[in-house]
Amino acid sequence: SMTIAHAQPALAAIREQLQQVGQEHLLTFVDQITPEQRSALLAQIASLDLRSLPGLIERYVRASSDAGKGSSAKIEPVPYFAADHTSKDRGWDREAYARKGRELIGAGKIAAFTVAGGQGSRLGYDGPKGCYPGGAVTGKPLFACLADWILAAQERYRPATGSIPWYIMTSPLNHEATVAFFKANGYFGLKATDVMFFPQGVMPSLDLKTGRVLLSQKHEVALNPDGHGGSLKALYTSGAIDDMAKRGVEHISYTQIDNPLVRVIDPAFIGLHAASPQSSGEMSSKMVAKSDPGEKVGVLCKVDGRVGVIEYSDLPAELAQARDADGGLTYSAGSIAVHMIGVEFVRRLNAGGGGGFSLPFHRAEKKVPFVDLSTGQRVEPTSNNAVKLEAFVFDALPMAARSIVLETQRLDEFAPIKNATGSDSPASCAEIQTRRAARWLGGAGCRVPYKNCGAVDAVIEVSPRTAMDAGELLVGGAGAAKVPAAIPSGAKVVI
Ligand code: UD1
Repeated sequence: SMTIAHAQPALAAIREQLQQVGQEHLLTFVDQITPEQRSALLAQIASLDLRSLPGLIERYVRASSDAGKGSSAKIEPVPYFAADHTSKDRGWDREAYARKGRELIGAGKIAAFTVAGGQGSRLGYDGPKGCYPGGAVTGKPLFACLADWILAAQERYRPATGSIPWYIMTSPLNHEATVAFFKANGYFGLKATDVMFFPQGVMPSLDLKTGRVLLSQKHEVALNPDGHGGSLKALYTSGAIDDMAKRGVEHISYTQIDNPLVRVIDPAFIGLHAASPQSSGEMSSKMVAKSDPGEKVGVLCKVDGRVGVIEYSDLPAELAQARDADGGLTYSAGSIAVHMIGVEFVRRLNAGGGGGFSLPFHRAEKKVPFVDLSTGQRVEPTSNNAVKLEAFVFDALPMAARSIVLETQRLDEFAPIKNATGSDSPASCAEIQTRRAARWLGGAGCRVPYKNCGAVDAVIEVSPRTAMDAGELLVGGAGAAKVPAAIPSGAKVVI
């Protein structure tokens, strides 16, 4: 038949390519699967960068190297712009930079960008993480929390044209579900033409002992998303960077999907990134002071004189514990995974040609279900059997000529949802949202109920549409009219 006649040469060619890189076992079951499954498998294999595999296996499986480990680099604390811009030794002109930022947003030079390709496995949630409830009272999805921020920013900084484009990176595993969710929810009030989705790349999962690519089914290669570091390539190869250029966008505001308090568009940060003499306008970062030495956040440091992030799992314990004379943590600059990234910077990184730009990989040993090649049975491993390779976006920081760091208040903008319970959970996130709202409302003259233990005796959610910061609830501010005189004990309130 037509299909067979067409499939045979492809099969032969692919078998030869696989043999050259020692991965011909991927075709073990090719005679036992349906013609449709066979075409899907061959297409999947053809989409892999087979030639890079032997080098990757040598480096990350046999030698167990990792981009974050084993370096003898000189590590120092990073200088930063303090959250308290009035502080004596670290003062800076916040209003001037915020004005610059508002100008850039108003002129359409800023896009929002959210990485939402992760698998959310720690949360135990199957769908795209952005569909998970984020609002403390409304339970609105994380995507809606970020969309509301963008709507608020449009209303304030772009009232004439009303557009701040939003690019969302999905993965091949959740792309369809993500796009369908936005459609079903009317793009959360944004214009459909201002929201762009593109999937990130994938990497094959490798057998921990042999480096062989695993089959997740007889007709399917085991793949994992290539890390949020894959965004710097996917932004380019997807055409997002060209689309930005067409729209006149010059800088990208990068956020993760897991933090409903994230300031998706932040004028002062944008201004510092684009206009501070200490910044080359290529890549900038936000940090909060770490809550304790063991907090699971990457730490912004100077590594051999350049700004970079050392992931929590890679920070030597003696550095994590180190304290200054005043008792504060020496390496306190916790990364909240918020960056400004220049459009030209992304272009430059990808300019090598061939779409081959890639950051170094971090290896993670994981349990990946696989098909046993000798029995054909699918196995659910009980211990780690695979190496997953992921790139981290912050590994691009040292490639910027000059990179700045802005400190922010944890309570104001950092309450990620990562775990089902405990720290960084839905419960801790709702509590932080409430405490923030209580402080903002209290500052604006509202009576907020407190329990004896000091916790707020209510659940409160402030929409960014009402107020993007405490000041907007004060007399004359955008949200002042919505401040109630008091909040009843035990109430659930949306402002
Ligand atoms: C991350 C940072 C950590 C930072 C913390 C702040 C890494 C490796 N670590 O930790 O330094 O202090 O956030 O909250 O990033 N994602 C993709 N594609 C992928 C993998 C992840 O889009 O292939 C997205 C996820 O959807 C999520 C974000 O990246 O939005 C975070 O990824 P995750 O692996 O959960 O990082 P964390 O360990 O939470």
